[in-house]
Amino acid sequence: MYEKIWKHSKIAFGGDYNPEQWDEETWKEDMRLFKLANVDTVTLNVFSWAALQPSEDEYCFDKLDRIMEMVKENGLKVVLATSTAVHPAWMARKYPEVLRTEFSGMKRKFGGRHNSCPNSPIYRKYSTRIAEKLAQRYRNYDNIIAWHISNEYGGECFCENCEKAFRVWLKEKYQTIDELNRVWNTAFWGHTFYDWDEVVLPNLLSEHFAYERTMFQGISLDYRRFNSDSILECYKLEYDAVKSVTPDIPVTTNLMGFFKPLDYQKWAKYMDMISWDNYPANEDTPAQIAMCHELMRGIGQGKPFLLMEQTPSVTNWLPYNALKRPGVMRLWSYQAVAHGADSVMFFQMRRTVGACEKYHGALIDHAGHENTRVFREMSELGKELAGIGEETLGTRVPAEVAVMFDWDNWWSIEYSAGPSCLLKYRDEVQNYYSALFEQNVSTDIIGCDDDLSQYKVVIAPILYMVKPGVDEKIRHFVENGGTFITTFFSGYVDEHDLVTLGGYPGKLRDVLGIWVEESDALPEGTKNHFTWEGKQYEATLLCDLLHEEGAEALCAYEEDFYAGMPVLTKNAYGKGKAYYVAARSGHDFYQDFLKKVLDEAGVESRLALPQGVEGTVRVNDADCFVFLLNHTQDEKEIAIEKSCVNLITGDKFENGDVMKLAAIDVAILKEERNI
Ligand code: GLA
Ligand code: ZN
Repeated sequence: MYEKIWKHSKIAFGGDYNPEQWDEETWKEDMRLFKLANVDTVTLNVFSWAALQPSEDEYCFDKLDRIMEMVKENGLKVVLATSTAVHPAWMARKYPEVLRTEFSGMKRKFGGRHNSCPNSPIYRKYSTRIAEKLAQRYRNYDNIIAWHISNEYGGECFCENCEKAFRVWLKEKYQTIDELNRVWNTAFWGHTFYDWDEVVLPNLLSEHFAYERTMFQGISLDYRRFNSDSILECYKLEYDAVKSVTPDIPVTTNLMGFFKPLDYQKWAKYMDMISWDNYPANEDTPAQIAMCHELMRGIGQGKPFLLMEQTPSVTNWLPYNALKRPGVMRLWSYQAVAHGADSVMFFQMRRTVGACEKYHGALIDHAGHENTRVFREMSELGKELAGIGEETLGTRVPAEVAVMFDWDNWWSIEYSAGPSCLLKYRDEVQNYYSALFEQNVSTDIIGCDDDLSQYKVVIAPILYMVKPGVDEKIRHFVENGGTFITTFFSGYVDEHDLVTLGGYPGKLRDVLGIWVEESDALPEGTKNHFTWEGKQYEATLLCDLLHEEGAEALCAYEEDFYAGMPVLTKNAYGKGKAYYVAARSGHDFYQDFLKKVLDEAGVESRLALPQGVEGTVRVNDADCFVFLLNHTQDEKEIAIEKSCVNLITGDKFENGDVMKLAAIDVAILKEERNI
C-alpha cells in the first residue's frame, strides 16, 4: 500500500518555492542552485490564487505552465498546492460574504491570510473550481507526488453565514430543541431555547468574556467542533475535486502539530498522507519537538508521514528570531525522520524581497548565491539524504506504549471554569511523554477511539471527558492484562461536558477502584509532598482527596488536612492494573514512576543511551533502523549490541564496539532484523 501512495524513491528534500514572486532569469539561477543543494522536490503554487484567477470569469495558467515545465525539465518532483489559502482581492470586494468575522464580532476586510469564511458558498464554489481546474490542467505530470490543499488551515469565523450553518449542524446532531437544551443544560441561568433561530454563535458578543472563558461550555465546545468540521468541509470539497481527476495522486494539507482549533484526529481520516510544519522555538526541548512528531504520525495510523515545512534557520514571527546553531537544522531534520517522516522539506527556497516574511530563513538568502552557511548546511544534508536513498521509506515505528490525546478533551478541560487556571492539557501530556522520551521508549500518541490491543501500557493524562465507549475500551484493555494510567481531573464529564453523577471519576471509577470526593487547587508555588519507595516527591496543581474502593494506596499526602490520604493508587483489575496519580508531580517522579511501571509491564522497546542522546527505532520486515541523535554539545559513546552499518557514514560496527557520536551529530544504524 505504501508504494502506491509514496511517489518518490527517497526521502523528499526541498520545500516551498515561490517563483511567481521572481522574474524568469531568477528561475534559471534557482534551478542551478537547487541542483547544487541536492533539492529534489518543490512545493508550488501555495499562494497563487489571485494570479491564476484575475477576475471572476478569467483564468490564466501561462506562468504556472512555464514553472511546471521548468521544474519537470530539471528533474524535480512537485507537491502541487491548490492555491486557495488566500482568496483574491476582487472576490472580497465583489462578495463580502467571503470575509471572516472575528471572535470580537469585527467584520474583516481584505487582507492577511486565512481570511475566508469556511461557510461562504462563494468561497466553497470558487476554491473547489480552481482545485479542479488545476487537476485537469496538470493531470499528466507524473512528477507530482502530492496535492497540497490550501495551506495551514486555521482560524474561526463568527459571521452570519456561519451562524446559520451552526444551527443546521446542531439540528442534524441533536434533532430536537429539547435535546439541545438538555445537552447544553440551558435550564442554568434561564437560557432555554424554543426555536433554533434563537441560537447565536458563542463569542465576545454572547457567551464569552474572554477567548478561552465561556459561560456555557456546551455551546462553546459545540462551536469548536462545528468550526473544525466547517473548515474540514472546505478541505474535503477540494479533496474530492482533485481526486475525481487524479485518483492516483495522494492528497495532503500541512498541519501544525498541537493546533487547538482543528481536530486533526478527525481530519486525518480524510488525508492520504499526513504532513506537518515544524517550527519549534530554539529553546524548545527535544522532547517537546518529538511529542509533536508523535502526535502527527499517530493521527495517520500508518499513513505516510511527511515533514512539509521547517525553517532552514530563522523564522520572522518570534519575538527573538535566533539562528539555528550550526548542525541543528540537520539534527532536527533527522529527528523528524527518526519519528517516521519520509520527507525533509522547508519553507522556503528563496527569501522573498518584501512583506512580513522577507527575513524568514531560506535556502537562497538575499545575498543570492550559494556561499552562505545555511546553503552549505542544506546542500550537505541534501547529499546525505540522497545517499540514504530509499532505505528507510515506509518503515514503521513500533510502540508498546501509548499516550492518549483527544481534541474534545482539550477543548473542554481548558473551557472549564475551575478548578485551576493553571490546568493545561498539553502540559500534563508533556510531563508523561517527556519521561518516556528520556528513557527512549518508543511511544505512540493515539486518539481515544484508537485500538489499544497492541499496547502494554496506555497513559491518559487528565481524561476529563469520557466519550461513549471509551470506558469500556479501557476496561477491556486492563481486563486483558494492560496497564492503564490516568490522573486527577479524569472521568468527570460525558461528551457534552455534562457531569457524570454519582462520584468522580465517573465511568472510570470501577477500573481505577477509587472515589474522588474533592479536589484541592493549589495556587502557583504551593506544594504538598508524598514519599514513594523511599523518595520524597512534590504534589502540586490539583490534589485529589480520594478513597480506595478496591485499589491499593501506594503512598499518601504528607501535609495539610488531607495528610494520610492516598495520592497514588493501583487497582488490580482482570489480568491487568490501573494506576491513578492524584496530583501533578515533578519530573523526577514521572521518571521513577514510569520506569517502574514499564519494567513491571515488560516493555522492551526502549534504548539505554547516554543522557542527551535520543534514540528511536523504525522497522520493516527485513531491517531495523536505530536513529541516534546527540542533542548535547559533548561527544557521547554508544555501546553497540548488534552488528550494523551507519547509513550516513557507511561505518560498520560489531557487537561490543563503542561508537563515538559527536556533539549535535546523528547516526542511523541499520541492523538486520532477527526478531
Ligand atoms: C507557515 C506557512 C508558510 C510560511 C511559514 C513561515 O508554515 O505555511 O507559508 O508562512 O509559516 O514560518
Ligand atoms: Zn463565516
